[in-house]
Amino acid sequence: MCYNHKKLNTVVKMPFDSNKHISVQSEDGSYTAYSKEFNEHYHSTKDGALHESLSKHVLPALKHTQNLDEIFILDICFGLGFNTLATLLALKGKKKKITILSPEFDKELIKSLVDFNYPQEFYEFQNIITRLSQTQKYESQYLNIYIYLGDARKFVRETNMQFDIVYQDAFSPSSNPLLWTGEYFSDIAALMKPKAILTTYSISLPTRIALYKNGLQVYLHSGEGVRSSTLASKTDLSYPKVDVAHKMNCNPNVRALHDK
Ligand SMILES: C[S@@+](CC[C@H](N)C(=O)[O-])C[C@H]1O[C@@H](n2cnc3c(N)ncnc32)[C@H](O)[C@@H]1O
Repeated sequence: MCYNHKKLNTVVKMPFDSNKHISVQSEDGSYTAYSKEFNEHYHSTKDGALHESLSKHVLPALKHTQNLDEIFILDICFGLGFNTLATLLALKGKKKKITILSPEFDKELIKSLVDFNYPQEFYEFQNIITRLSQTQKYESQYLNIYIYLGDARKFVRETNMQFDIVYQDAFSPSSNPLLWTGEYFSDIAALMKPKAILTTYSISLPTRIALYKNGLQVYLHSGEGVRSSTLASKTDLSYPKVDVAHKMNCNPNVRALHDK
């Protein structure tokens, strides 16, 4: 699919900004946010928020699931909702039934999304953003989105849904390690259908070891104009495979993160 990169040059003071988050313009012109709590941006400012979401998560995942008429997506975590909204953008005009579940523990962030300066590609989803911000759900004939206001670890432990796509887009392993541990990925692997795909921007070896040790094959994804990322699946994907066992042999001191 095509979308425009719009480099904006204006500095805008956002009503969205608070003592926890401020909006920041990224390289492709789209705004992301900076979390003062996690000391991290919500997206790579260098790759661009919209560009990163489409290139590293949405497009490879939708390519893999293109033959499905109904797709169940786990979006970890909702944040500004780019992965959910970019999914709707990429599926525009396609008659597929989509169900997206997305944990997010920052209630104030979700409430403030109505004030976020989204890229114009998302303007048509304004009513969806407003409904999600106010009620944390959007339901229609072909599209159901549910934001679970709470801890993602609890959600993945307790849900009995099975997913075709998992967007693993938490803050980085160093800032938010509990969403990257072997135990966490064990719960995630159990929620993935046999042919499901997981996408993540992390290319760190501990993350890849955690995926591999939970029965997932690990692949290198290279998108245009973005840094490399990781895809994982229980099934074969047509991407260069990462030989995690070999990397573990060469780096015996590197281990997956663990809960304790
Ligand atoms: C990198 S941002 C997600 C970006 C998002 N995918 C997007 O496209 O805008 C990480 C999000 O995880 C949330 N978060 C961090 N730890 C969490 C947890 N244990 N449970 C639920 N949400 C969590 C943060 O509040 C933040 O909104």
